[in-house]
Amino acid sequence: MTDEFQRRVEESLHKTENMGEMSDADAVGASGSPGCGDMIRMWLKFKEENGRRIIDRATFQSFGCETAIAAASLATELVRGKTPEEAASIPGAELAADLGPLPPTRIHCTQLVEDALRSALSGQETRTGPAPESLIGSLQESREERPLVFLDPEAGDGAD
Ligand code: FES
Repeated sequence: MTDEFQRRVEESLHKTENMGEMSDADAVGASGSPGCGDMIRMWLKFKEENGRRIIDRATFQSFGCETAIAAASLATELVRGKTPEEAASIPGAELAADLGPLPPTRIHCTQLVEDALRSALSGQETRTGPAPESLIGSLQESREERPLVFLDPEAGDGAD
């Protein structure tokens, strides 16, 4: 990872917004990386404005690397005020363009963000089966052979 890329990721992490579940979301999507085991969930809330249905808010939750968190934060800011069609047409590379050129090992991190957004916009989970209530639930399901162990017992609440 280049110093410049790392600096941009860290800068974005300091400004990270829109993190957390959205209880009144209109749409939710998720994506996971089989390679690294990371996962992102994204929630969207729509509103009517001037006869158009636009994205009012977008939030995310991630058990992923810093790059994925930074990219998700940027993407949730970028889609705000856009119609679902406009948001869906944003090229994946543009969602996290502020991070600059991605090192090859980090391309899948932003792909994860793109997939979660597209999943939410299409109203479908990228995984098969019903959506678990939380990201922790999603992770538990995807790692049945290797259950998650929480260092902080409070972090596992609701994962049953
Ligand atoms: Fe897997 Fe970044 S290393 S999402």
